[in-house]
Amino acid sequence: MTKSTNQSLKPTTLRVNNSGNLEIGGCDTVDLANIYDTPLYVIDEKTLRNICHDYKKAFEKYPKTHMMYASKALCTGAVSKILDEEGFGFDTVSAGEIYTIYKAGIDMTHVLFNGNNKTYEELELALDLGVGRISADNFFELALLNEIAQSKGKTADILLRITPGIECHTHEYIQTGHLDSKFGFDMTQIDSAIDLILNEYKNIKLHGLHAHIGSQIFETSIFPDEIEIMAREIARIEEKFELHLNEINIGGGLGVKYTPKDVPPSTFEIGELIINKISEVVEKYNIEPPTIFLEPGRSIISTSGVTLYTVGSSKQVPHGTKYVAVDGGMADNPRPSMYQAEYVAEVANKKETDKTEKVTIAGRYCESGDILIKDITLPELEEGDVLCVYNTGAYNYSMASNYNRVQKPAMILVNDSKSEVIVKRETLDDLTAHDIIPDRLKK
Ligand code: LLP
Repeated sequence: MTKSTNQSLKPTTLRVNNSGNLEIGGCDTVDLANIYDTPLYVIDEKTLRNICHDYKKAFEKYPKTHMMYASKALCTGAVSKILDEEGFGFDTVSAGEIYTIYKAGIDMTHVLFNGNNKTYEELELALDLGVGRISADNFFELALLNEIAQSKGKTADILLRITPGIECHTHEYIQTGHLDSKFGFDMTQIDSAIDLILNEYKNIKLHGLHAHIGSQIFETSIFPDEIEIMAREIARIEEKFELHLNEINIGGGLGVKYTPKDVPPSTFEIGELIINKISEVVEKYNIEPPTIFLEPGRSIISTSGVTLYTVGSSKQVPHGTKYVAVDGGMADNPRPSMYQAEYVAEVANKKETDKTEKVTIAGRYCESGDILIKDITLPELEEGDVLCVYNTGAYNYSMASNYNRVQKPAMILVNDSKSEVIVKRETLDDLTAHDIIPDRLKK
């Protein structure tokens, strides 16, 4: 089967240029580090658009498919604009994500609002801005949403988030579809929720069901399994409540290749499996072909992103590890310390030496656990070398913090030998901008 972009470890445009340096989107990464400083998030527009095209091609035979990019992976105005241009909608989980997309001038009917504890203000904002769908997670939210919609004389168009009881093999922190999960209605609670919607909550209109099983998934079977369960439920609900639902949202979760060991399935394989499964359930349960929503996040944005760091100090522990420290770490990429996530890096600048050594890439933050990459073999590194860490597009900037009061890095977009800043580097004044020193302390 044809390879898709999520199956490659490095951005599509990555190459070694005539100066012997790594180049992405036609831009020399060493020049980028000099111009914009490091740490620097770099997004390759071509890779991002390629994966969008892969997804669209994979589902072209089923036009009732809607791609909703999971903004939590990386939410910025420019990235949202590119995805909008590619015809993607957006899965959002906060007022901040909704507002970012709104400010980018995107049609809010293409937005879905998710989350297990949406606040009153967030639900209000979603209704005021006219987001297309709200995925209702629990009984508390149904009541709250109905109240808000009623007070505004509006109807909330919703899906019901359910936990279908499917387990997947990924880190336990990023599994969500298993039965004992904090997300969604248990299968046994669906009927009570529908009862309430039909008989009490007059300002809520239910369109379908939603589930999400987990993230960084390599098993292909979970998507057809989800469709089986949700189609069966839709048929049962139609029969019991005479309620016609025709939307199925199967969430996101497709994995990417962080290291050579990772073998994620291709979008084409997933597409074929999903489309075949839909025909099967349509016949089996005698239902109308449903509109299918997918919410990929990581597999859309991860591969297009790299982070550039500058090498600083190093330390050889006598008879132990050689640590090479870079100017970023757990605040710009918390994934290694949170999930023991593994990454691959290369030296961006030309190295004449044939000598390689095994080193551990340490971050700059004041924690022993701030290790970006354990035991990687690289050409001997020196202070000033630029290190390029691959596959950092997803869940890096979006989970970044100001730990140790360090400014968050800038993000640039590269394409056709041009680079543009899409997120400014924070300044020291940005860090103190929200501090207030009470007058009585200003002596
Ligand atoms: N839809 C829902 C309802 C989700 O909860 C998620 C991710 C997605 C879609 C997108 O999943 P993706 O295609 O990106 O796998 N911070 C973790 C990942 C947490 C994912 C949470 N939910 C990490 O860095 O691995």
